[in-house]
Amino acid sequence: MKNKKITVIGSINMDLVTSTNRVPILGETVMGESFHTIPGGKGANQAVAAARLGADVTMIGCVGQDLFGQDLLKHLKAQGVNVEHVEPVTDSSTGIAAITISNGENHIIVIPGANYHVTPVFVASFEDVIAASDILLLQLEIPLESVEKAVELASKHRVKVVLNPAPIQPLPKALLEKVDYLTPNEYEQQLLFDSIEWTEEERQEMLRKCIITRGSRGITFYQDEKVEIPSYKVDVVDTTGAGDSFNGGFAYAICQGASLKEACQFASAVAALSVTKLGAQGGMPTMQEVQDFLRERNEIV
Ligand code: RIB
Repeated sequence: MKNKKITVIGSINMDLVTSTNRVPILGETVMGESFHTIPGGKGANQAVAAARLGADVTMIGCVGQDLFGQDLLKHLKAQGVNVEHVEPVTDSSTGIAAITISNGENHIIVIPGANYHVTPVFVASFEDVIAASDILLLQLEIPLESVEKAVELASKHRVKVVLNPAPIQPLPKALLEKVDYLTPNEYEQQLLFDSIEWTEEERQEMLRKCIITRGSRGITFYQDEKVEIPSYKVDVVDTTGAGDSFNGGFAYAICQGASLKEACQFASAVAALSVTKLGAQGGMPTMQEVQDFLRERNEIV
């Protein structure tokens, strides 16, 4: 069977990760536990999650012409992601994320840098790549107009779109209407629904596109009725990138023809494994690792 094509248009960051037993309050200094520089960025994380599972993944994005940019390009390539359309730009540094981890939970501040060079014109220059994709996977760490352009082109070529609305911001109704799957967490879903005026019919239609991730409380989606998928219990080291792992796994499974329920169950296993190691991409599993994990739980894929 021909491997389905997933295209990711999004951010590529270097994560500057500090682990601490306690997060300082304003004005306070605490001594931390460790510091690591780890590849990240919601776009790149989702691309790597899908590539580790065996998908044919193309990344469209920008890095700076600096050491972080060079490292991230090498890293993405080594993970099997096609980086032919990742452009090093001269007048911005590579995106970074300052991340603090404490007791498995995180705080993140993103400085987008080169990610904001992913302009609508840049996106439009890859219309043929988008048209040749089976799924387009998007997040909100590049300019919103670029996400809108990407969705417009995908819709023109009847390519399915998965939009992970993170980090959340108010989104135009017209954009949401063109997306096939929306993958907000509960907070993001609430904000999206509250920030737009919907008729009851539109609201129901939008709800049917939503796959709502609820962390350790599982996944909810609505078809004819509300469906709840419980999450897998694992020992959590770092939840950074759990949502990205879910999105990469979800896009992969949908491409393979899985039902919504199957795709959510599979992606939930991918996300569960991802949080057992440090770093957004550290614990992202291969297909073999997902199969072993599910077999141990008597859930064969
Ligand atoms: O979703 C996790 C990601 O958010 C991190 O890798 C960080 O780079 C930010 O983009």
